[in-house]
Amino acid sequence: MKIGIPKEIKEEERRVGATPAGVKAFIDHGHKVFVERGAGIGSGFRDEEYVKAGATMLDSPDDVWAEADMVMKVKEPIGPEFDRMRPGQILFTYLHLAADKELTEKLLKQRVVGVAYETVQLDDGSLPLLSPMSEVAGRLSIQMGAYSLEARNGGMGILLSGVSGVRPAHVTIIGGGVAGFSAAMVAVGIGAQVSILDNNPLRLRYLEDITDARLVTIMSNPANIEEECLHSHLVIGSVLIPGAKAPKLITRDIVRRMMPGAAIVDISIDQGGCCETSHPTTHDNPTYIEEGVVHYCVANMPGAVPRTSTIALTNVTLAYGLEIANKGLERAMADDPALRKGLNVMNGQLCHPAVADSFGMDCAKVDF
Ligand SMILES: NC(=O)c1ccc[n+]([C@@H]2O[C@H](COP(=O)([O-])OP(=O)(O)OC[C@H]3O[C@@H](n4cnc5c(N)ncnc54)[C@H](O)[C@@H]3O)[C@@H](O)[C@H]2O)c1
Repeated sequence: MKIGIPKEIKEEERRVGATPAGVKAFIDHGHKVFVERGAGIGSGFRDEEYVKAGATMLDSPDDVWAEADMVMKVKEPIGPEFDRMRPGQILFTYLHLAADKELTEKLLKQRVVGVAYETVQLDDGSLPLLSPMSEVAGRLSIQMGAYSLEARNGGMGILLSGVSGVRPAHVTIIGGGVAGFSAAMVAVGIGAQVSILDNNPLRLRYLEDITDARLVTIMSNPANIEEECLHSHLVIGSVLIPGAKAPKLITRDIVRRMMPGAAIVDISIDQGGCCETSHPTTHDNPTYIEEGVVHYCVANMPGAVPRTSTIALTNVTLAYGLEIANKGLERAMADDPALRKGLNVMNGQLCHPAVADSFGMDCAKVDF
């Protein structure tokens, strides 16, 4: 199969669809890979590394898309990319169609085969191509929380770890899933006092067990959320209700009564945010102060660390990409129910029930 890796063109996006090591894996399996010149630069991968891996470098994105049977990307196609897609071409990337009718209509019109990273789903309900980015966002949230607490950024000037003779900061994490747990591990690791709230008692027990109780687990309810927030220097919002907007668990009234100069990192901002005072920010201008509290609400946190994020993404997408390339789309889908759930559009029809539902459209039954 011929695989195309174009350079991402969305603003602030520096990740790339595959690392040189990922490209080499395709080549080793007998496939051809076409990489746009400069595609890896934002993630610190030079063209020479792709050439060494066996890729054919092309100057123009038009040529990459024209050559490819399957295009592997990071972000959904935008602007000039729409006209580069062609019927039957496989597009393997994050799509998030349920939130984007215009994009969905374009993909249907171009009759591409859209396989979305975010809907590939294992039997236990987990989302293997989404979780590495939650892990990145969770770990990064403590770093960004620490930055927000610095005096020059409007924070109260407290060091999360404390020093000998000085108390560490109190960090509260609301939502103990992949992102929340990743945040907790970093916060515990640097010596902060950490509380984590979740509304799933099994998850709380699991978190307590695997961390040897180095953090405090607390049932999530309005009273406990309020109490924890009012005593916290840093609050991390990392809740998720699959398929729904994030619930507004931290009210404006709570924010108003938090310590002046405390900080909130609302990771769930990509689902609307779990704090009433949150609104999306960008990497260029990541924080703002409201009710005396510093807010960090970047919706694409992994974009801040594109090299780590690209490697983490290729680590999980490669096996599925190889499955499609080695077996062909139909066999790969027939053999792997998890990958089958990634199929969103094909032959000009929607084929993912939740996406179809969100637009009140019919979901085509595709037999493999
Ligand atoms: N900003 C970014 O760049 C970025 C990057 C990755 C993920 N995210 C977002 O981070 C959020 C978390 O993702 P995840 O992969 O960790 O999800 P996850 O499903 O692994 O975890 C979510 C957790 O929230 C818990 N939860 C649900 N309702 C709750 C409530 N009322 N109180 C407390 N806990 C509750 C669930 O029990 C679950 O443990 C999502 O909104 C995701 O979209 C954002």
